[in-house]
Amino acid sequence: MNKKNVVLIGFMGCGKTTIGKELAKNLNFSFIDTDCIIQKAENKSIEKIFDIFGEEYFRKLEKKVCYKVSNFKNCVISTGGGIVKYEENIINLKKTGLIIYLKATPEKIYENLKYDNKRPLLKNKDKFKIICDLLQQRDYLYEKYADIIFNINDKSPFILAKEIKNNIKSIL
Ligand code: S3P
Repeated sequence: MNKKNVVLIGFMGCGKTTIGKELAKNLNFSFIDTDCIIQKAENKSIEKIFDIFGEEYFRKLEKKVCYKVSNFKNCVISTGGGIVKYEENIINLKKTGLIIYLKATPEKIYENLKYDNKRPLLKNKDKFKIICDLLQQRDYLYEKYADIIFNINDKSPFILAKEIKNNIKSIL
């Protein structure tokens, strides 16, 4: 297969950043995060970008970043949970990346995000319900686009990163 990057997809709060950083260390790859690239370019938090310009604007930036990072190599790329909303994002990411879905139950996601107030899509709403609804809309997309799926529920990021590395080292 000979892919140059590892791309982590999955719902908000499934551990893409924590697992991704650990995995990058294990593979001796650089770690990058599409949300961080957007925040740096705009000099604003994701929250602010949603607040001031709205989701559509954010999605346009996200598309540009997917195109840009598909030219990188030897990176673990953590993506925003909504990356699967647009197929062109995945088409770009797949050009050079092995796509890994970090799958979690809504209960686990809620557990991880119950005190979080940085995710615009989960703000001022019944968090658990939104997580269930959005996950229902997206889970099949994550599954459809993934080359490999890892269930993250009962494992530490440390153990998961090791497991992922062992699984993918022969195909990178
Ligand atoms: C989003 C997920 C967030 C961020 C933005 C939108 C989504 O990233 O991109 O708030 O639509 O699921 P994380 O998955 O890293 O939280």
